[in-house]
Amino acid sequence: ALLSAWKGACGAAGSGKVVIPKGKYSLGVVDLLGPCKGAMHLQVEGTLVAPAKASQHRKNSWVTLRYLDRLTVSGGGAFDGQGEIAWQRESCGGGCKKALPVNLRFDFVTNSIVEDVTSIDSKQFHVNLLGSKNLTFQRFSVKAPGHSPNTDGIHIGRSEEINIIDSNIMTGDDCISIGRGSRQVRITNVRCGHGHGISIGSLGKYEKEEPVSGIYVKNCTIYDTDNGVRIKTWPALHGGSVSNIQFEDIVMQNVSNPIIIDQMYCPHNECNRKMPSKVKISDVIFKNIRGSSRTPTAVQLTCSSSVPCKNVELSNVNLQYTGSKGPAKSICTNVKPKIIGKLIPRGC
Ligand SMILES: *[C@@H]1O[C@H](CO)[C@@H](O)[C@H](O)[C@H]1NC(C)=O
Ligand SMILES: *[C@@H]1O[C@H](CO)[C@@H](O)[C@H](O)[C@H]1NC(C)=O
Ligand SMILES: *[C@@H]1O[C@H](CO)[C@@H](O)[C@H](O)[C@H]1NC(C)=O
Repeated sequence: ALLSAWKGACGAAGSGKVVIPKGKYSLGVVDLLGPCKGAMHLQVEGTLVAPAKASQHRKNSWVTLRYLDRLTVSGGGAFDGQGEIAWQRESCGGGCKKALPVNLRFDFVTNSIVEDVTSIDSKQFHVNLLGSKNLTFQRFSVKAPGHSPNTDGIHIGRSEEINIIDSNIMTGDDCISIGRGSRQVRITNVRCGHGHGISIGSLGKYEKEEPVSGIYVKNCTIYDTDNGVRIKTWPALHGGSVSNIQFEDIVMQNVSNPIIIDQMYCPHNECNRKMPSKVKISDVIFKNIRGSSRTPTAVQLTCSSSVPCKNVELSNVNLQYTGSKGPAKSICTNVKPKIIGKLIPRGC
C-alpha cells in the first residue's frame, strides 16, 4: 500500500503527499525512490513496525529514501525497528558477517527536512546519510536502550550542509557519528543520552577517505555516556584529514571521557597499535565545556606521533570529577593545545 501510494504521488505533476494515518502498521523492506515530479511529503502519523528478524530483511536497510529533492518527512509518528531479537542473537562483537538493517537510509537526498518523527530500536544505525546535501533534522527523536550494539543515532557520510537541531537522541552507540566526506555539519540544541556521545570518525580504516571539515557542535547536553565529544582515528592504516571542528557550550553529565581525541582507536585489535595513525587533525576548538566526568581523566588528547594535531584550543573547560580514583587530570600526547581561560582539571 505504501509503495503504490508513493509511486502515484511521486509520478503525479506538482508536489505529492503520502499520509500514514494514526495506528500501528507492519511494514516490510521498502525503497521510496525518486526522482519525483515535484516536492514530496511523507507524513507519518502512525507507527511503522519492521520485521522482527534480520533474516526477513533482503538487505541492510528497512526504509530507504533515495534520489529525492525537496522531501519533507513529518507527522509525529515513529519507525520501530524491533531490534531486540537482532541485538541478542547477532551480538557478535566486531565480527558480524552480515550487516544488520538500518532503520532509515537517506541516499542522495537534497534540500529536505525531517521533523517530528521518532526512530525506535533500530537493529543497526537508526539513520544513515549518504551523498546528501542541505538536509535538516529537527525535533527528531531516537530511542533505544543502552545495551543496543552499533545503533548510532544519525550517521553522516559523504554529505554536506547537514543540520541537526532541537533533537533528543538516546541510543546504545554513538549519538551522532560523522564519517568520511562530511562537510558543513551543524549540530545544535541536541541532547544525547547513554551510548557513546558525539563522534567524528572513526577515520583512517579505509583507503582514500574524503576529508571531514566544518563541523560545529553547539549548545548540546551529553549525559550518562562513555564519551562526550570525540575524534577517533585508526592507527597504522590509511591517511585522511579532519579540520575546522568546533565544540562549544556543551554540558557533560556523568560522562566517562568528556573530551577525547583518540588516534589509537583500535577496537577488537583489528590493527597494529605500534604504528601511528596517518590521519591529520587540525583547527579544533573545545570551548565552554562544563559538567562532570565519571573518570579522573576528563580531557584526553591522544594525537598521532607521526602527524601531531595542529591548532587545538581548549577554552574555558571545567569538568569536575568527584570519584575516589583521583586526582583528576587532563592528558595531552603529541599536541600542545592553546589554553584560554581555565582548564579544569589541570594538565596538558
Ligand atoms: C535548503 O533546503 C530547504 C528546505 O527544503 C530550502 O528551504 C532551502 O532553500 C535550501 N537551501 C538552499 C541553499 O538551497
Ligand atoms: C540550548 O538547548 C536547550 C535544549 O537542549 C534549549 O532548551 C535552549 O533553549 C538552548 N539554548 C539556546 C541559547 O539556544
Ligand atoms: C552514570 O551513567 C552510568 C552509565 O550510563 C549509569 O549506569 C549510572 O547510573 C549513571 N550515574 C548517575 C549518578 O546517574
